[in-house]
Amino acid sequence: MLINQVQPKLIIHGGAGSSLKGKEGVQVVRSSLYKVLEEVYSLLQAGASASAAVVRGCHLLEDDPRFNAGTGSVLQSDGQIRMSASLMDGSTQRFSGVINASRVQHPIDLAEALQKFPDRVLSDYGSAELMRELQVPVYNPLINIRLLEWLQERGENFIKEAAGVVAEKELVDNPVEHTKAGVGTIGVVALDGLGCLAAGTSTGGKGFERIGRVSDSAMPAGNYANLLAAISCTGIGEDIMDECLAARIVVRVTDGLSLVEAFERSFAESQQRQRDLGAIGIDATGALAWGKTSQILLAAYHTGEQMGDTLEWSDDNLTGCIVKGLPG
Ligand code: GLY
Repeated sequence: MLINQVQPKLIIHGGAGSSLKGKEGVQVVRSSLYKVLEEVYSLLQAGASASAAVVRGCHLLEDDPRFNAGTGSVLQSDGQIRMSASLMDGSTQRFSGVINASRVQHPIDLAEALQKFPDRVLSDYGSAELMRELQVPVYNPLINIRLLEWLQERGENFIKEAAGVVAEKELVDNPVEHTKAGVGTIGVVALDGLGCLAAGTSTGGKGFERIGRVSDSAMPAGNYANLLAAISCTGIGEDIMDECLAARIVVRVTDGLSLVEAFERSFAESQQRQRDLGAIGIDATGALAWGKTSQILLAAYHTGEQMGDTLEWSDDNLTGCIVKGLPG
């Protein structure tokens, strides 16, 4: 194992959207995110590559039924779950992903496997063939809360634009309460001890969408990295694609802006065009940044010295377009 030459950095998100409804929701989501940070940061400290850390972080978030990725994914309009995920390794500047994959526990694993293939982004049928080829076991990611949410929405003829951001227990007690749109996605961005960056993003999509709708999470618009910066986005996929947000921020850093400046400029533009989105990122100096135009962003970070998060932004009246960062 190589000895770390730089201090590893890690930032993760569990989606963006509407309020978490009070302290209890905040504490539960915080504890989920911090557990992931602790496990993945210790991997980085032990010498794991940025890509390996990102894949492990995505596994943990995909396995948490609270978040809309892997287990706990939202249902599409026809009641099926179709998931999308991508991985970008900044050191090779190589993107890979799957779009609308079904019956898989960890869509990010398919994206990771595709890093070595000449055809690196596969859609539904192709991802099923890949699963057969790799002998990935069939898995049902459905949880009851998401089924109830879909049944409720079907009863109302799909008036909502998207499913809830987090599968909260109170949704079971009172599904009618949960009417605000929000988009859950998970994302992990890491800088490893050798100074390499990677970004991974995974999602069940918006929820209640048309069959065949393609998410930004398996596009460079939603997940992008190079030698200088790595970004994972969350929010309404169409808004993220229209801004080409992840690639836009990375290109701005490549052209000389600091990470925070690149976030500030990109989020100001997004806000002007009334986009509903969020993003997290790290640059090669170890600077971290996060931003949102949506009501909330469920993000948390580990600098090696401290952990922090964005979960109380809405309580702090930090509404509208917000960008924050920490220097490297
Ligand atoms: N950002 C996730 C989606 O819109 O599919």
